[in-house]
Amino acid sequence: MDFNQPADQNLFDRATVVGKPHARVDGVLKVTGKAPYAYERHDVVAGQLYGYPVGAAIAKGRITGIDASAARSAPGVRGVVTTLEIEPLGIWDYNVARLFGGDVVEHYQQAIAVVVAESFEQARAAAALLEVSYDRDKVDVDLEAGWERVRGTGEPSTLVGDVDAAFQSAAVTLDEIYHTPSHTHAMMEPHASIVDWSDGDQMTVWTSSQMIEWNRQALATNFGIDPDRIRVESPFIGGGFGGKLWLRADAVLAAIGSRAVGAPVKMALPRPFMINNTTHRSATIQRIRLAADADGKLTAIDHEAASHTLPGGRGENATAQTPFFYAAANRRVIHHLVEMHLPEASDMRAPGETSGLMALEIAMDEMAEKLGMDPVEFRIRNDTQVNPSDPAIPFSERHYVECLREGANRFGWSDRNTTPGGRREGMWLIGHGVAGAYRGHLNLKSGARATLSNGRLVIETDMTDIGTGSYTILTQTAAETMGLPMGRVEVRLGNSAWPVSSGSGGQFGASSSTAGVYAACVALREKIGERLGLQNPEFRDGNVIGNGEVTPLSEIAGEFSAEDSMNFGEFQSKDYLMATFGAHFVEVGVHVATGETRVRRMLAVCDAGRILNPITARSQVIGGMVMGTGGALSEELAVDLEHGFFANHDLASYEVAVHADIPHQEVIFLDTLDNVATPLKSKGVGELGLCGVAAAIANAAYNATGIRVRQYPLTLDRMI
Ligand code: MOS
Repeated sequence: MDFNQPADQNLFDRATVVGKPHARVDGVLKVTGKAPYAYERHDVVAGQLYGYPVGAAIAKGRITGIDASAARSAPGVRGVVTTLEIEPLGIWDYNVARLFGGDVVEHYQQAIAVVVAESFEQARAAAALLEVSYDRDKVDVDLEAGWERVRGTGEPSTLVGDVDAAFQSAAVTLDEIYHTPSHTHAMMEPHASIVDWSDGDQMTVWTSSQMIEWNRQALATNFGIDPDRIRVESPFIGGGFGGKLWLRADAVLAAIGSRAVGAPVKMALPRPFMINNTTHRSATIQRIRLAADADGKLTAIDHEAASHTLPGGRGENATAQTPFFYAAANRRVIHHLVEMHLPEASDMRAPGETSGLMALEIAMDEMAEKLGMDPVEFRIRNDTQVNPSDPAIPFSERHYVECLREGANRFGWSDRNTTPGGRREGMWLIGHGVAGAYRGHLNLKSGARATLSNGRLVIETDMTDIGTGSYTILTQTAAETMGLPMGRVEVRLGNSAWPVSSGSGGQFGASSSTAGVYAACVALREKIGERLGLQNPEFRDGNVIGNGEVTPLSEIAGEFSAEDSMNFGEFQSKDYLMATFGAHFVEVGVHVATGETRVRRMLAVCDAGRILNPITARSQVIGGMVMGTGGALSEELAVDLEHGFFANHDLASYEVAVHADIPHQEVIFLDTLDNVATPLKSKGVGELGLCGVAAAIANAAYNATGIRVRQYPLTLDRMI
């Protein structure tokens, strides 16, 4: 439908369901263990066998031989397929490394075989019997060395004014280098699939995927088959964080195994395999230079960053926010991709801004201190309402200053410790920190089908709920648009048989998919109106109202079904920049003897347009704050520089933060409306909650101790 002529322009200005707190409609299913996740779908197809993956033990080179004879004759084994028996699979648009096939190894734990057996234990035991020989190439996985090669070279992506001249004439300058390590998504549910391709014709895939249509298209490309022969289902997903945007080895190996043995095969990627086999957030090295006049007005921003990637990949663009976040007349931004043979770097929650703000928001703190300014006031002074590189383009909505002011107020910023190392309680040094948050607002085309019969509404779309609350906000959207109570709306998600949606990623899912459901419901309303001969009828309280008559929807005979979509790629204004903003305030304690940093309380203020449901949105933001705490204090994929892999490939040695690490979290939504965004006037919030968190903690740790750490995570050794 055409967003410029919405059927009911004011519907969401008088919203009574959208924007209100509603508990998750799938909450009971989840807490009672009845929500079926991919690996648990024993019911969908009989005779499921177990697959187990084998990964390459080198980072780069060739496989010269695989002896699978012992594995093939092991107890319970029904089949073994090695990469040497399969032509190299196709590579879909957004993937970089081949998922299977051929003798070339591009990264450690790239899949090289699948074992199918009657039990999981038999498959795993047989997998250990494979004998693989390699011709191993040397690898270069040293980002520090790569940075030294690329820094100072290349064409900037943003170049405005005369940066070098601005530095020469500035009253105060800063020039520092920051390091962020590689991160793994560490979602609770691993990549998992059941695939039935036993007839070698129709492929059915029960999986855990953020993007149903991408998954289906990627399978079609990998196997060179018509996408119409593939059905993908993923109604429940135990977390993704970007790791499940992509088709991975679980579905590919289960499909290959299923075809080979003529039976459905299930596979969950073992965690130690997953961390090197799937994608991760690339490490970054960032040089940030800031120049300001004596009043704290930035005169120049120079941000040069590098991240690593396999050849052809995207890496982690840590400069993503820098062209837009703060004003300065002179600006230079450049991001280098360093090609390395680590596993495939790709998107992880707020790709770009997460790492970029980890550095930039420390730099802002350092600069405020050099200027003798309150770091909140310093940020406010450098706010911009327009694209700093193109002042003719304003932000559609930008309430960053309000986030900072409201946060300072609610946090009690005026009572903060102002002397680094100056406040002590027993064995703990107490510090306070602030950081800004910025995350670009994206949208994708999203469609849905709405069907009404006997007064009950069913919504079908291939949209996913990765734990974010899609079921709930889409139920709210449909209920609002059709004037029905939420209890008479059933939302069905995650099936490629249904209209293609935005899927879940890039914090575009909520605003894109609610707009698509709205469009489908408006199309349904038109159909019902036509049938009843009504011009612009109203839908309210379970009734359709027009021509002075009130007809309960439950009394309209027959079934009505309508499908529609919205495409923001077309409708998003070229006249505006769109983004979301926030401010994080943190209090930490740093132990004087051990250097241990503990977060004592956190507050976030978010500006992300209309908040569709404050309960599910708050969960997103506090989850982001927990993830940011891990990023600040513990999360780091450690690179084995000799062999080229992530050495800490399990959750015992890759340490994530949990809620119990943070005694107190508070989230405030400004709940502004963004009229340029969607008919619901909402923007994404799921990734915003992570942006800036780690820097706020690092700044608080500095405030507590006087020790400035520019290399994450802030482990004990760095705090002493
Ligand atoms: Mo997010 S990294 O786009 O799932």
